Amino acid sequence: MILNTELEYKGNLFPTQIVKYEKNLNVLSFTTKNGVILQVTVRRDSILRFRFTTTGIFENDFSYAITKYASRGYNHLEVTEDDNHYIITTSKLICNISKQDLRTSIYDAVDKSLICEDELGFHWEESYEFGGDVVKMSKTAQPGESYYGLGDKPVDNNLKGKRFENWVTDSYAYGRDTDPIYKTIPFYTALHNKKSYGVFFDNTFRSYFDFCHERRNITSFWAHGGEMNYYFIYGPDMGDVVVNYTDLTGKPHAMPALWALGYHQCKWSYYPESNVKEITSKFRELQIPCDAIYLDIDYMEGFRCFTWSEQHFPDPKRMVKELADDGFKTIVIIDPGIKIDMDYSVFREGLEKDYFCKRADGPYMKGKVWPGECYFPDFTNPEVREWWADLFKELVEEIGVKGVWNDMNEPAVMDVPGKTFPNDVRHDYDGNQCSHRKAHNVYGMQMARATYQGLKKFSYPKRPFVITRAAYSGTQRYTSSWTGDNVATWDHLNIANLQAQRMCMSGFSFIGSDIGGFAEQPNGELYARWIQLGIFHPFCRTHSSGDHGDQEPWAFGDTITNVVRKFIELRYQLLPYLYTAFWRYAEEGVPILKSLVLYDQKDPQTHYRNDEFIFGEKILACPVTGPNQKGRRMYIPIGRWYNFWTDELVSGGQEIWVDADLDSMPIFVKEGAIIPKYPIQQYVGEKTIEELTLDVYYKVGNEISEVYEDATDGYDYIKGRYSLRNFKFQGKEKEIIIQQHKSGKYITTYKTFRIHFHGLPFKIKEIEIDNVIIPFEELRFKGGTSLKLTKEFTELHIIGE
Ligand code: GLC
Repeated sequence: MILNTELEYKGNLFPTQIVKYEKNLNVLSFTTKNGVILQVTVRRDSILRFRFTTTGIFENDFSYAITKYASRGYNHLEVTEDDNHYIITTSKLICNISKQDLRTSIYDAVDKSLICEDELGFHWEESYEFGGDVVKMSKTAQPGESYYGLGDKPVDNNLKGKRFENWVTDSYAYGRDTDPIYKTIPFYTALHNKKSYGVFFDNTFRSYFDFCHERRNITSFWAHGGEMNYYFIYGPDMGDVVVNYTDLTGKPHAMPALWALGYHQCKWSYYPESNVKEITSKFRELQIPCDAIYLDIDYMEGFRCFTWSEQHFPDPKRMVKELADDGFKTIVIIDPGIKIDMDYSVFREGLEKDYFCKRADGPYMKGKVWPGECYFPDFTNPEVREWWADLFKELVEEIGVKGVWNDMNEPAVMDVPGKTFPNDVRHDYDGNQCSHRKAHNVYGMQMARATYQGLKKFSYPKRPFVITRAAYSGTQRYTSSWTGDNVATWDHLNIANLQAQRMCMSGFSFIGSDIGGFAEQPNGELYARWIQLGIFHPFCRTHSSGDHGDQEPWAFGDTITNVVRKFIELRYQLLPYLYTAFWRYAEEGVPILKSLVLYDQKDPQTHYRNDEFIFGEKILACPVTGPNQKGRRMYIPIGRWYNFWTDELVSGGQEIWVDADLDSMPIFVKEGAIIPKYPIQQYVGEKTIEELTLDVYYKVGNEISEVYEDATDGYDYIKGRYSLRNFKFQGKEKEIIIQQHKSGKYITTYKTFRIHFHGLPFKIKEIEIDNVIIPFEELRFKGGTSLKLTKEFTELHIIGE
């Protein structure tokens, strides 16, 4: 079978001229003489959906990726025609559709510049092996065009010149360029001439993307079945492309509890109970903050999900409670494979209710995973998802488990070619029965969704926490994720950095890597450098396969322990800052990490940068990625930035050397930023927050910063019980004005701010709070230039001399 577009005239079929055009509100249909229909849906002024059928009939319009909460609506829609085209015009886009062959070209409606243009456009090939079509699309790459996104691909940020496959795959010890791995997110953003657009190919079959790899000036994508069904998302700002894609496929349904943004400790496996307790006690003894402890597969009885090993965990409820009293949330693993065992109630129930996946010719899909031979629930059946959700009742409601870790949900099957189900396995697909060819990429997503439903139900009134390995577009609505079985090497530290940035620009910000590496053993230096990177990842967990030695913060001697503690402490101090970034993500879809290209696409220097990234809105971080380094060169984006450690101000738009001994790493803060900090806690909630620290970084000019807070858990924030502070910083030569606007009904526990100034070029002469002069000495903290003052001010005016 021909899978690529190289041999475009061999086997390829093409639409012919348009013979019929119909408009139904925002849905436009174009039918060709040879029976192809193109349906263009104007979802928003900047989002067009293109859907093709070659048979004259569209399949049922069903997608697991697109959320029902996605915004719709446009300001302007007009369809005109000339001799050669139908012309669709919105307030943002002009799309020409060729009357000759359905090929499209899309222009910016404002300056009429060309954004994206079909090469062969839509074409297809009959698949003799499976029936149906291989559906294909090719577009002409524009001069200097770059490509980003695609989920968890372990490659450099810029995808140009590469080809990728999307097929969710268990990839133990994958490496740079391994493809495909665990996730399928068929969404990329492109950038040329300072303008950016995105393409989301919502087709769950095995699919491919080629970015000028096969032919230098052509970008193409195709799938082994289903429809050519893609969304074109215009920016021109790349940030808006990602925000709109995230709006389409969904933002997290709830904020995570604040503790979920703390540090997590994991290993395969901590058992028996005494071992778990030894680990958690050590954290407290050494005063290394930690919020969550994980139980990997060995907590179960013979790897049977929803059971506990009586020998190793005789009284899980008591243990979980004791851990909770010490500030630890217990998170347990649950895999999809259900052991074939008539004495095991989950298996029996699944069998009785007919919930397990079956082969095309009838028998159950039997596969080997950790417990031995297993059957697998069909999570694409809503009834099965409900059943699965209810299985969490005991674990969560009774025993008190706070989070569930879904693994092996690609689904992974051992000792078989392809490491997963055969193609013929049948799935319900929410009433759109299909084979595994179509359901494979969403299987893990639907498992995580069912788990989320259970956790949501039984954790109530607290917020659920789920983590998954496999994912398809949209999975971010339900769960966090990690990057799977990486390796303890320096290159994997680089890969973790790339994957986290890439996931964030693919709409999935709640992501982290196995810190230190899952397979093999890091040395102390690698572990410390990885922790430094990991504290800037939205999900922050050490995990390892455990068979190569210990990987706890204290496993590498005191020097390393101290470095690790210092950085985990920094994470806890920055929790209100991270929580605010998460809120922006959950609320608006703004990615928590921004690769430099996403941060400043106008600066061509950013287009190929990999290591540096923006954490939240105002912090620039860059890991040290090799051994024996005392610093590194890095690119500072345009603007002025304070070195976090020294307060030295540097100008961006250039590469500079930054000192970073093992106990440090390059971190910069944007001038004008106001960074909120909490005191160091050993776990979230250990202390009542008595004061919010605000680090104010002086600048001449204006800058806006935000701080979002709520009760840290529960759903009251949805009813308006949150606190959002908007700080408007205005700096002049001898003056600072900070205006605060507060919204929301939540009353924070603290009453005062502690304000630290950084880079202040003048001595404070006078202070006014809401137009009342207050003697500096009254507010001054410990004789320095820091102030302690009420959180209630609306305008703080600092006058210098
Ligand atoms: C898989 C997971 C890993 C886990 C192991 C045992 O390899 O990716 O995180 O520890 O299975 O459950």
